[in-house]
Amino acid sequence: MSFDKDSLNIVILAAGKGTRMKSNLPKVMHPLAGKPLVQHCYDTARKISTGPVQIIYGHGGELVRDSLSQLDAIWVEQAEQLGTGHAVQQAVPNIDDEQTVLVLYGDVPLLDTETLTVLVGQVHASSMALLTVSLDDPSGYGRIVRDAHDNVKRIVEHKDATDAEKLITEINTGILAVQGRWLKKWLSDLESDNSQGEYYLTDIIAMAVDDSVTVTTCAPSTVAEILGVNDKKQLAYLERIYQRQQADTLMENGVTLHDPARFDVRGSITAGSDVSIDVNVVFEGTVVLGNGVSVGANCYLKDVEVKDNVHILPNSVLDDAVIGAGCRIGPFARIRPGTVLHEQVHIGNFVEVKKSEIANGSKVNHLSYIGDSSIGSNVNIGAGTITCNYDGANKSRTVIEDNVFIGSDTQLVAPVTVKSGSTIGAGSTITKDTPENELTLSRSKQQTIRGWKRPQKNS
Ligand code: UD1
Ligand code: MG
Repeated sequence: MSFDKDSLNIVILAAGKGTRMKSNLPKVMHPLAGKPLVQHCYDTARKISTGPVQIIYGHGGELVRDSLSQLDAIWVEQAEQLGTGHAVQQAVPNIDDEQTVLVLYGDVPLLDTETLTVLVGQVHASSMALLTVSLDDPSGYGRIVRDAHDNVKRIVEHKDATDAEKLITEINTGILAVQGRWLKKWLSDLESDNSQGEYYLTDIIAMAVDDSVTVTTCAPSTVAEILGVNDKKQLAYLERIYQRQQADTLMENGVTLHDPARFDVRGSITAGSDVSIDVNVVFEGTVVLGNGVSVGANCYLKDVEVKDNVHILPNSVLDDAVIGAGCRIGPFARIRPGTVLHEQVHIGNFVEVKKSEIANGSKVNHLSYIGDSSIGSNVNIGAGTITCNYDGANKSRTVIEDNVFIGSDTQLVAPVTVKSGSTIGAGSTITKDTPENELTLSRSKQQTIRGWKRPQKNS
């Protein structure tokens, strides 16, 4: 890296109202891949800088500041939005002359650190740097006006441009880097005598040229990097670009994605070898998938660690859990927070497991609720078994020791312990601890009332 990570001062402009989002939520708070737009920007900033990051907030800004108070940022209010130059002026009290200032936009979330590193590396005492790109349709953007020697002379905003200038396809992305000393000098000279009556940050370019500061340019590696979000369509467009990047990275690492267009990561995912992911799977938070894992269609995995050779069958929901090697989950299983499954555990359809630990080789295959429980190894839980963990006021634990067989349609009224080797007869309601290696059941004997007749309708 060709610059000092401590000497950067990054200013993120995030004061815009975002009217076109047609939402009460400030624009920069809208999530991309589950994370607010401005936080994408902040996270990128933090990857290249240990220096100050200033976030300029305005409309509805308290909400932005309060919901992101965990960020290591300096929050600066721009009470009135008088233009991008005015916005950067608010940051001046926190800028040292020797620092390199990098201006980012809070609604441009996909910038790459590599691009910014190159840009910032071009800044010296006598040169500043602009991120520019040529677009087939440059309308709406500020245009880069160059002289006969191809040197940058100034930027003209679309609304102020002549017809000839409107033909220029090289546009200002808005991202720029410049030494603090110069920035402060030029900002104090800004005027608002333009078609929008705003203080344009872009006017500092002509001032740089007047002060014999060279204006260098560099381009992002892809146009997607500099795209901004103004409305919901653009937000959705950038979401798909972002998700495609996640998908590509996983596929480059050998993961099989049945359809990269139907795949979403809202957080981070790491995967071992021979992992296969079917369509419409959503990953949130931190997900770790071991070797040989398969995830079926329409699953949702949040903050889970899935060990080797686990098969998660379609339509399963897993949240805050550890799934041991060789487990089989689903279809239609729900694994809730605090669940730890050891190896070779089978959780079948319409089974809900919450805050429970299940040891090796145990099976809960059909229609059951297992909550606040410890289940030993080689246990078989029959269909329709319920741990009654809640008495309306308190939660209690159910303990099921090794080698237990629970017959179908059993209710285990907690607190209760089913001792090792116990068998519970189907249809039982177990309220007391059961002895080891015995059959326990709590249902009335089957009887037949001979000659009994069904009631008839009164005619
Ligand atoms: C700006 C640039 C234009 C460039 C374009 C790239 C200027 C004068 N023009 O135009 O050359 O091609 O971005 O997208 O800089 N903001 C504030 N406070 C304000 C005004 C804006 O924080 O008072 C923030 C907005 O929230 C946004 C960013 O600055 O994140 C850009 O503002 P916007 O109004 O979109 O500028 P453009 O007119 O698009
Ligand atoms: Mg804009």
